[in-house]
Amino acid sequence: MAFELPDLPYPHDALQPYMSRETLEFHHDKHHQAYVTAGNNLLKGSELEGKGVEEVVKGSYGVNQPLFNNAGQHYNHIHFWMWMKPNGGGAIPGRLEKKIVEDLGSVDKFKEDFVQAGVTQFGSGWCWLAVKDGKLAIMKTPNGENPLVHGAQPILGCDVWEHSYYIDYRNRRPDYLKAFLENLVNWDHVDEMFQKAGA
Ligand SMILES: [Fe+2]
Repeated sequence: MAFELPDLPYPHDALQPYMSRETLEFHHDKHHQAYVTAGNNLLKGSELEGKGVEEVVKGSYGVNQPLFNNAGQHYNHIHFWMWMKPNGGGAIPGRLEKKIVEDLGSVDKFKEDFVQAGVTQFGSGWCWLAVKDGKLAIMKTPNGENPLVHGAQPILGCDVWEHSYYIDYRNRRPDYLKAFLENLVNWDHVDEMFQKAGA
């Protein structure tokens, strides 16, 4: 099956003031669309044509860099839109909160380390909360990479490419990351991925 741009799960202006309509118009309608278009062109005639996005991400890593870059970004953005919602942030579902405390120290420490991972990712990339070997871990990756190709299952990720925050926050990446955690995260989607990861 070919890659397809999913609709945003909310209107373009629904995440204001934390993420503007203009940012989502560029980020979703243009940037994500470009990964879908380029990914489909690169998939044509390749061994991975017809496979699901997760399989393409894993199968192209270290083998077909241009395809991996676009497939990785397609996977990352599909979830990024779902990892946010209007009036997000707030309470973390019980079992996940317990696991965060158990593996990462406390909710505050998790937030601090997640922001730190995003701030210290040099250049473009992502910071993550992932399940690895049955435990939660904070990770960061460059460009289109994600925890799937490092033996882990992502359950929350934040895009720290400049296209994700420069219109609204200019160079203030830490402020963007804090707003993401406090006002945008859709913990229901995080919890759903946590349950599926079976940790
Ligand atoms: Fe992005």
